[in-house]
Amino acid sequence: MRHERQVQLLKRVAASGDHLKGLHAPGSATNRAAVYADPARFALERELLFRRGPVFFGLSVDLTEPGSYRAMRVDGIPLVVVRQADGSLGAFVNACRHRGAPLVDPASQGEALQAFHCPYHAWTYELNGKLRARPFAAGAFDDVASSCNLLRRPVAERYGLIFVRPEGDAPIDVDDVLSGAQDDLGSFGLDTYTHIASRTNEWNFNWKLFFDTFSESYHIRSLHSRTLAPTFNSDCVIFEPFGRNLLSVGLRANVHEEFAKPEAEWSLLPYGTIQYFLVPNGLVVHQLDHVETWIIEPLSVNRTRTTTSIYAPSPPQTEKSRNYFVKNLDLLLHVTGVEDFALMQQVQESLDAGALPEFVYGANEPPLIHFHEQVNRVIAGAT
Ligand code: FES
Ligand SMILES: [Fe+2]
Repeated sequence: MRHERQVQLLKRVAASGDHLKGLHAPGSATNRAAVYADPARFALERELLFRRGPVFFGLSVDLTEPGSYRAMRVDGIPLVVVRQADGSLGAFVNACRHRGAPLVDPASQGEALQAFHCPYHAWTYELNGKLRARPFAAGAFDDVASSCNLLRRPVAERYGLIFVRPEGDAPIDVDDVLSGAQDDLGSFGLDTYTHIASRTNEWNFNWKLFFDTFSESYHIRSLHSRTLAPTFNSDCVIFEPFGRNLLSVGLRANVHEEFAKPEAEWSLLPYGTIQYFLVPNGLVVHQLDHVETWIIEPLSVNRTRTTTSIYAPSPPQTEKSRNYFVKNLDLLLHVTGVEDFALMQQVQESLDAGALPEFVYGANEPPLIHFHEQVNRVIAGAT
């Protein structure tokens, strides 16, 4: 992150007064609790936000060599993105044109694919989606008129980020998606990082509770009293909207120490957990010595799959330094799993039972106000 940007954000903290009140939203907001539990509402969110996309599909460094691929389902649609020989990316529906078998495991990541081989009857496709062969069929498909190439989907890659549109042909403009955050995200040099490890888990809560619990710091003091609370500030985050997305910077408790230095020496990086929420399904977190990403896949109104990855700024030279990052990832997943997500599952049970009419988002939780406003706006625009 450029130094001027770090100073700009730190100045907001310096000027924010007691309990960082200056970082608050102008007021609180409420939201219907049913938005987290109503299957009809969920169907609209899947269609309008996930299926139409664009959705976050990972970092460029996940797919380093020709033949590296990542597959996942978005709103049930199996997608695969694969690095081509010329360095570009191809995105395809991961379903054979014969009778629909997935060409690679629908939730997987791998390297050095030479071609797509269907496991069902052995049709073969080039990495660019072109049908190569229908072996052992003795001309049985010679009268098939339509093209049997894989269905292509729009994909775009910039600033080290990959986005895909699961349905439709409209091209993706990454600058438009990022709506102002591209300067920050570009400054992190994400395409110089090295992927270390990924973990996938499933949780019994609505996908929006992931955004809720990750984007505010208010809960740290109590929910994380034994883990994060001594180190991190619980008053407010630095919030900025960018399009329907948002930046939320969680701060260390000692951030004010930086203000004793001359402004030219200020740095936000040692004090900030810099989180870019890419609605509807991504989170890119810049920490001082690594980057984390989260990709969320709603499976039903109250079930969500999360894939968490950690990246190092340079390839680890020893097993010990690699383990440092793996341990960091496992600690993150332990704290979020045991403390945040376990509680979110209990919240969801109450939401599913219709126990509450509404939720309140405080002025000290500005990211939640923006996020739900944006999602509600998309839904309202369609209904
Ligand atoms: S479904 Fe792929 S070859 Fe038959
Ligand atoms: Fe938390």
